[in-house]
Amino acid sequence: MLCLGKTPDIVIMSDLTLLWRLWLTKPRQIATWAPSSDAVAAAFVDAIATAPDEGTIVELGAGTGPVTAAILAAGIARERLCIVESDAELAAHLRRRFGRDVIARADARALEPFFEARRIERIAAIVSTLPILNFGLTAQRAVLDDCFERAAPGAAFTQITYLPGSPVRQRHLRLWGYRAERYRRIANNWPPATLWQYRANEIKPCGDRYRDICLGRLNSD
Ligand SMILES: C[S@@+](CC[C@H](N)C(=O)[O-])C[C@H]1O[C@@H](n2cnc3c(N)ncnc32)[C@H](O)[C@@H]1O
Repeated sequence: MLCLGKTPDIVIMSDLTLLWRLWLTKPRQIATWAPSSDAVAAAFVDAIATAPDEGTIVELGAGTGPVTAAILAAGIARERLCIVESDAELAAHLRRRFGRDVIARADARALEPFFEARRIERIAAIVSTLPILNFGLTAQRAVLDDCFERAAPGAAFTQITYLPGSPVRQRHLRLWGYRAERYRRIANNWPPATLWQYRANEIKPCGDRYRDICLGRLNSD
C-alpha cells in the first residue's frame, strides 16, 4: 500500500481518493484503501523478468494501475499485456490512463471464456493483487486453473499478501496440482508485503473427478 519515505504526488492523490471511496463501499472486493507502492510494483516487475519471451503477461485486479504503470515503464510491449479489473469505475479509470487495448473489465473467477474470446493462447506470467484470500476455495481454484490451462511451462502466478503465509493454503494448492514458493518480502512498505509464486506441478496428483470430490470435502470443512 504505502511506500515508507515517499510523498504522494497529485496523480497518486486522485487515485487514493478513488480507491478510498470504493473501498468504503465494497471493502471485500477492493480490499485496500491505497494503491500499491513503487516498491511493490517494482517487485512485481522483477517477478516477471524471468518469464518466457513469448506469451501474454496477465495482471489480475489492476485497481488504479500502479503495477500496470511499472510493467509498461519496464518496457514490456503493450501487445503482450492483458490487464483485468472487475470494477466498472476502476476499469474506466484504467482505460483512460492506459488505453482500451490493454484493459479489460472481467471477473478473474471466470477467465476461461474471457481468454477464449480474446484469443489468448499462451500465458507467460500472471501477476495478481486480487483479494484472493476473500475468495472461496472454488473461486481460488478457478482463477489458478484457468490461468495455468494456458500457461507456458514454468510460468509463475505471483500473488501479493500482507499476511505471513500463502493466501491460498498450501495444502489446497498441493491437492490441486500446484506448488508455492515465497518469492520476496517487501519490508519498506506499510504494511510489509510478501509476494508468493505459484507454479503448476508437472504431474497432477489425481483425476478431475477425484479432485472435485476432494474440493467438495474441503468446501464443507
Ligand atoms: C487490493 S486491490 C489492488 C489494486 C492495485 N492493483 C494496486 O496494487 O494498488 C484489488 C483489486 O482487485 C479487484 N478485484 C477484486 N475481485 C476481482 C475479480 N473477481 N476479478 C477482477 N478484479 C477483481 C478490485 O476491484 C481491486 O481493484
